Amino acid sequence: MATVGENRSFWDGEYDWRDEGHEWSVAWGGADMQWFGTILPRLHAYVPAETILEIAPGFGRWTSYLKGLCDRLILVDISKKCIDACREKFASCFHITYHVNDGYSLDMVPDGEIDLVFSFDSLVHAEKDVIKAYVSQLASKLSKDGVAFIHHSNIGQYERYFRFWQKDTLPKGLINWLKEKGVVEPTDHWRAYSMTGSLMRQMVEEAGLFCISQEYINWGTKPSRLIDCITVFSRKDSKWKGPTRTFINRDFMKEAYHISSLSRLYSLSSLGKGG
Ligand SMILES: C[S@@+](CC[C@H](N)C(=O)[O-])C[C@H]1O[C@@H](n2cnc3c(N)ncnc32)[C@H](O)[C@@H]1O
Repeated sequence: MATVGENRSFWDGEYDWRDEGHEWSVAWGGADMQWFGTILPRLHAYVPAETILEIAPGFGRWTSYLKGLCDRLILVDISKKCIDACREKFASCFHITYHVNDGYSLDMVPDGEIDLVFSFDSLVHAEKDVIKAYVSQLASKLSKDGVAFIHHSNIGQYERYFRFWQKDTLPKGLINWLKEKGVVEPTDHWRAYSMTGSLMRQMVEEAGLFCISQEYINWGTKPSRLIDCITVFSRKDSKWKGPTRTFINRDFMKEAYHISSLSRLYSLSSLGKGG
């Protein structure tokens, strides 16, 4: 269980932000490769967008790309440390506004003006109370054709599996050995156990919105354990209305490894240009 309090104290306190989140892009060969190879192909139909709301930007790993795709960017994070870091990093960008919230509220966001809501690699740690709060508020925050692109947890579907290996049912040494050998998933990536893709779809519908698509993906896990999901949704009266499309993508990590192999030639860092 990753409560709002635990998220705040971890990200605002003990987490070492020295690498500003770039440590999570290593599997792709860098943040630029992950953005252009994995995120942008899924997002391109919805950008540029006049006003973007990014929920939980951390130290701005994706903000760096979103800022060039809009006229107005609103950042909301539960961690003051993260918002302060973004404020400093993007000081020259006068179209960005910054907000520390309580982990639930979007009161600071204007109604009916958000053309894209983006959250990636953050709300996977948020339990259903947080997701429900955000989704229900987004019903009034989205513009007519506005879209929300939310990466969240689906680990609830595999709860029994992960819980079994977390219990002391077998000797610790044996469990660690099985994890090292890759027989057992070494970690649950601190995913929120109360969330699943189907629950997200239910929340979206209960909020009077509709799901454009849902992609179930593995994240540092075997192809059989799709612990995450990317849900894209909008208003029912939007131009995006149509049948909800679902993709069970067991090759998400294969995609990362492939992009990582391209990064040796094409990433900014391989070209000596940072990134
Ligand atoms: C793993 S970091 C990812 C940051 C960024 N998205 C990235 O990919 O680099 C998770 C972020 O989510 C934020 N966060 C966690 N729970 C939140 C909540 N309920 N509302 C807003 N932000 C939250 C944390 O403060 C942290 O900045």
